[in-house]
Amino acid sequence: MANSVKVMKRKELEAYLQDVEVFENPKVKLEQYPTTPHIAACMLHTICCTYDDLTDKSVVDLGVGCGVLSIGATMLGARYVLGVDIDEDALDTCSRNLQDFEIHTVDLLAADVRHLANPLNCHLHKRFDTAVLNPPFGTKHNQGIDIEFLKAALALSRHCVYSLHKTSTREHILKKASDWGVEAKVIAELRFDLANTLKFHKKTAVDIEVDFIRLQHKTDGRTV
Ligand SMILES: C[S@@+](CC[C@H](N)C(=O)[O-])C[C@H]1O[C@@H](n2cnc3c(N)ncnc32)[C@H](O)[C@@H]1O
Repeated sequence: MANSVKVMKRKELEAYLQDVEVFENPKVKLEQYPTTPHIAACMLHTICCTYDDLTDKSVVDLGVGCGVLSIGATMLGARYVLGVDIDEDALDTCSRNLQDFEIHTVDLLAADVRHLANPLNCHLHKRFDTAVLNPPFGTKHNQGIDIEFLKAALALSRHCVYSLHKTSTREHILKKASDWGVEAKVIAELRFDLANTLKFHKKTAVDIEVDFIRLQHKTDGRTV
């Protein structure tokens, strides 16, 4: 780790994240299902302790939703986080969560992530060390949005991107990363237990196989 500050244990982080309020009326079109406290804690602890990409880092959280990843990243020592979401209701919930957690180093931006990949539209290019995201999977009505989130994450970050994707799209994602000239690696395979929050999920719980993927820019001069 870059500094010797003691990092909170994963279980402890997970326990704190249980208190993050989730989407009140989740919107199907925006794929509003929250990352569970368990998965969020596993992801963030790995980003922090295996790769040293959180402590003292500036972070962008694309599709911030109710803020579980931003809050967890802050608890593990991120210096600053910008959370971006298209949905004002989600941002309101996120804002309440940040107040409840007494976090003052996260800013929220209402924006369509798809507009952030173009440097001409956006002054935020390369302003963040690390991007974290649980993007819409983009396999239903909004095909391709997962790739647009990744493009924006790469455009805004200087060092690396951590993202969740359906395992069924793995080859496609890795091929895209290779086309973009970034290194990509599946660092964990997860089962995403989608609770019955979205109308198209008929069962009470639906297990989806998900890859936790790390993408790294090749030219930032840091060694990993
Ligand atoms: C799967 S949820 C993840 C929420 C949160 N990051 C978490 O981990 O719990 C995807 C989020 O992306 C947001 N979203 C969907 N399309 C978007 C877009 N075009 N631009 C910005 N945010 C979008 C949704 O509103 C939702 O909050």
